[in-house]
Amino acid sequence: MYKKRETFLPYAVPLIDDEDINEVVETLKSGWVAKGPRTIEFEKRFAEYTGAKYAVAMNSATAALHIALIAGGVKPGDEVITTPITFAATANTIIHVGATPVFVDVDPETFCIDANKIEEKITDKTTAIVPVHYTGHACDMDKIRAIAEKYDLFVSEDAAHAIDTFYKGDLIGKKGDCASFSFYATKNICTGEGGMLTTNSEDIAEKARVMSTHGMSKAAWNRYGKGGAWRYDIEYPGHKYNMFDIQAALAKTQMNKLSAMQDRRKEIVKKYEEGFSMLDGIKLPPEADYTTHSWHLYVVRLELDKLTIDRDKFIELMGEANIGTSVHFIPVHLMSYYRENFGYKEGDFPVAESYFDTILSLPLYPKMTDEDVQDVINTVTHIISNYHK
Ligand SMILES: Cc1ncc(COP(=O)(O)O)c(C=O)c1O
Repeated sequence: MYKKRETFLPYAVPLIDDEDINEVVETLKSGWVAKGPRTIEFEKRFAEYTGAKYAVAMNSATAALHIALIAGGVKPGDEVITTPITFAATANTIIHVGATPVFVDVDPETFCIDANKIEEKITDKTTAIVPVHYTGHACDMDKIRAIAEKYDLFVSEDAAHAIDTFYKGDLIGKKGDCASFSFYATKNICTGEGGMLTTNSEDIAEKARVMSTHGMSKAAWNRYGKGGAWRYDIEYPGHKYNMFDIQAALAKTQMNKLSAMQDRRKEIVKKYEEGFSMLDGIKLPPEADYTTHSWHLYVVRLELDKLTIDRDKFIELMGEANIGTSVHFIPVHLMSYYRENFGYKEGDFPVAESYFDTILSLPLYPKMTDEDVQDVINTVTHIISNYHK
């Protein structure tokens, strides 16, 4: 039965418990708060977890995406293929290396980049593809890797949503040129801000390490420790993108909880699937046979032809009922910078644009109680019933 919530239910909240707090306090007391042993330990653990040979910790996935393109040799004037249904960081970092983002429409089933449409956008300037495992649903990587091999392109996977996403039985991050993960506040593990680049290439890992710490030669982080050498060289005018130990402290305790937090996400998804199974007017998120979803986001599509309201009004009504929602994502090609500088316009990517008109992200995070989940189900059901044609 629908009843308006008394308190606001945010669309996402991290799960921070005493274990996390104690580990951060311990780190503060240890005196080593910048990049140090905890960051190195987290890199090792994340490599073991994903099965990748190398992991380089950064202060965000945006930093990792930027460094990935530099390490992959993408240069000014190059073209890099990606999807319009992503956060702006994916495309902004392509511009940061002086390259041009070239969008390819999304697949009408999975809403990840449509691998069947990539080849038609390849020119002699194309040097890389940045597929996004959108919401935690893997892209069709076999097709993308085959194209990359045929045209000798670098593949930098945007795995910001894809901790615990599987592609054909393999965790994302262990195959391919490199993958960039996010540990931002709303992500499946949270370090406040944070990211990780994983790769099987020693060359990419070494470049990523150097370029994320000013371009300084080896082991720069340890230059103030016992035995650390004061002399260093700058091999490249790099960036200050490294993770630091306060973030890594949180990463340690968040990784301890990852499996339990993922179980809770899956439980909530099951409740949504059951709760919405008889509801006419929305479509639930897809999960193709080849992937196991990480359920970072739960994006539903409104069947607008069956409703008397649009998506924006739906979000307003959810807000009035004290339930937070979000939209992932406004297609990047429609942002003013992209329109003005690259000539993108409405109608360029019809699947992405009509998808965008219908979507909203419902709350999905381990901290939600069963009552919270039921409130979301009741509210969505109430709105759909009230505004059904
Ligand atoms: C698809 C995608 N890529 C990249 C990022 C950037 O991640 P970060 O905030 O860790 O820089 C985000 C952040 O939400 C994202 O959703």
